[in-house]
Amino acid sequence: MQEHVVYYFSGTGNSLKTALTIQKALGCCDVVSMCSSHEHHGEEASIGFVFPCYFGGVPHQVLEFIRNMELPGDLENSGASELPEASKAPGTSEFPEAPGTSEIPATSETSVAPEASGTPVASATPHKQASPYVYAIVTYGAILGSTFGQLNEALKSRGIELNYVAPLKSFANYVVMYEMSSKASEMLVETKASLQPIIADILAQKTTKIKKPLPLLKTYNRLASRNVHTQDRNFVVRESCTSCATCERVCPAGNIELAEGRPLWLGQCEQCMACLQWCPERAIDYGEKTQKRDRYTNPEITVTMFIDYLHGAGMHS
Ligand SMILES: Cc1cc2nc3c(=O)[nH]c(=O)nc-3n(C[C@H](O)[C@H](O)[C@H](O)COP(=O)(O)O)c2cc1C
Ligand code: SF4
Ligand code: SF4
Repeated sequence: MQEHVVYYFSGTGNSLKTALTIQKALGCCDVVSMCSSHEHHGEEASIGFVFPCYFGGVPHQVLEFIRNMELPGDLENSGASELPEASKAPGTSEFPEAPGTSEIPATSETSVAPEASGTPVASATPHKQASPYVYAIVTYGAILGSTFGQLNEALKSRGIELNYVAPLKSFANYVVMYEMSSKASEMLVETKASLQPIIADILAQKTTKIKKPLPLLKTYNRLASRNVHTQDRNFVVRESCTSCATCERVCPAGNIELAEGRPLWLGQCEQCMACLQWCPERAIDYGEKTQKRDRYTNPEITVTMFIDYLHGAGMHS
């Protein structure tokens, strides 16, 4: 067992790259996909969660992971039934009808600064050593919404105290809503620089105060992400598909099967865009919206790395 663990979720590699950078800084650290394992040893000195903000909140896959984490008895003090409403699986009656994607604002075009949604400020108060130090880094394009508050509620419901959170502004990848900016390399430099003070905070085990999520922001997240799973009906495959199966392998939700050499979407989509963005032939589109748009994956993550980490290989430092 390693001394530290970072659990990550990623569609286009920003969050995986972040997790790997933290792994390097901490040393003796596992990087584990939240989609490959629910086991948690509970003896690590620190536990990190790294994932993207989706629709101003926490991706369903992350909430599912927290809900199903196999914890040692001393960490767990309550069951999954206490999970907040937003973390229940979509498709159940708690989730309203599917949205028109026009209801979801383009993150790169909105002006709500993360500060307005309660960006935490690290305090010099060091973490008390008795329990593991638990932190989260959320990669995002423009709006954090209720992400931290929602995560805090989900962890609390499993008896886990969240000690520190930090937003990490990254390349905005939601190609369904907007053009992929041509400034990926500039963004990468900016993101790398912003990560350094966060890593210093984590090494010093600093703590942050996490505010309760504002009801309005929670409602936005609930409405925007309703029935997201079945939005995969909008994907189309072009003739250029070579049946390489990359889309099947990169899907963190296990939502793609190849049928007669063509991807088939199974209605459990997270909208992470991995299939569309990683397809080497650009053979996948989201209706007509993405036909003329560029593709993006983090330039420092290869498709082989992405697949290896997703399926649990190469996780040790
Ligand atoms: C379905 C979806 C929803 C998103 N919603 C938001 C959002 O509400 N706010 C935001 O700032 N960025 C949003 N983004 C952008 C991602 O959070 C950002 O690009 C992130 O760094 C992607 O991480 P990854 O490369 O690890 O997948 C969204 C991206 C996707 C695919
Ligand atoms: S990744 Fe693209 S080319 Fe490969 S099977 Fe999927 S759709 Fe076809
Ligand atoms: S089907 Fe595509 S968009 Fe949906 S979860 Fe899988 S990789 Fe992500």
